[in-house]
Amino acid sequence: MTARILDGTKIRDTIMEELAEQIRDLKGAGITPGLAAVLVGENPASQIYVRSKVKTCESLGLHSEKIEWPADTSTERLLQLVRDLNSRDEIDGILVQLPLPPQVDTKAILEAVSPSKDVDGFHPVNIGNLVSGRLGLVPCTPAGIIEVLRRSGITMQGARAVVIGRSDIVGKPVAMLLLHNHATVTICHSKTRDLATVAREGDILVAAMGKAAFVTGEFIKPGATVIDVGINRLTTEEEVRRIFHDPAPPLEKLRSKGSVLVGDVQPEDVQEKAGAYTPVPGGVGPLTIAMLMANTVQAARLRRGVHRARLVDD
Ligand code: GUN
Repeated sequence: MTARILDGTKIRDTIMEELAEQIRDLKGAGITPGLAAVLVGENPASQIYVRSKVKTCESLGLHSEKIEWPADTSTERLLQLVRDLNSRDEIDGILVQLPLPPQVDTKAILEAVSPSKDVDGFHPVNIGNLVSGRLGLVPCTPAGIIEVLRRSGITMQGARAVVIGRSDIVGKPVAMLLLHNHATVTICHSKTRDLATVAREGDILVAAMGKAAFVTGEFIKPGATVIDVGINRLTTEEEVRRIFHDPAPPLEKLRSKGSVLVGDVQPEDVQEKAGAYTPVPGGVGPLTIAMLMANTVQAARLRRGVHRARLVDD
């Protein structure tokens, strides 16, 4: 059996078109949603992410501000920045890129963001909203995963869903969203006994533990939908040979590009055993920024008490 590929780039493009239309309507009503992205220090991956987030805002016609501060910024100064952004009316969403430098109290910063502008969905109030099924802002990657499943016609209701990984950013919130969509959810982690056996019960298997190609064929129920959230960069021949059954194509890529991206799922096994899966790259990744844009639009609406139905009626 060859599995169906769930094309995240295509789904992202559709969501972006829908958002562009909603933004046009909002602008017609005199509202331009605005995002402030805060980057502290010079982490290269964070720089790329923030640049990409701001560029996506620009492409959609959203107001955006990139705020870059040096790596030695104190918690107190960052708190002041967040408070300023909380009070500015043209800013609907505040994103503080993680990780923050070690001297900064990350929890204090995330708690200082107004829950109504918390487009990452990391504030305890939004976590509470998510758990209790209230309207709020939902973390972007988990929201993207649900969009992939929904838009690909994968049934969640009554399905056995197994999530591997219990992070605050992905594992826990995606488990909660799957539960709200009426799946029967199991959360696994590094201490789970007989992990492969538990994973193999999943009609939907979400791999979000951050270990390159950890999920192999024996974890996958034949025909299951496998969502791979991992992004791991392989840079040595040895790693590539250890992971791939047929290392020739990825070795070629390693030689030409200098690295090979692999998810948390073994790519050859998933193609053979799954019914459908998200590839790496091109699966869940593209959705994350799209959902950040959706959250910024949602925050602009929620903060002004503008609901979508009313705008459409207008
Ligand atoms: N760093 C890695 N992922 C994320 C994310 O989703 N949001 C923020 N703010 N930082 C991150």
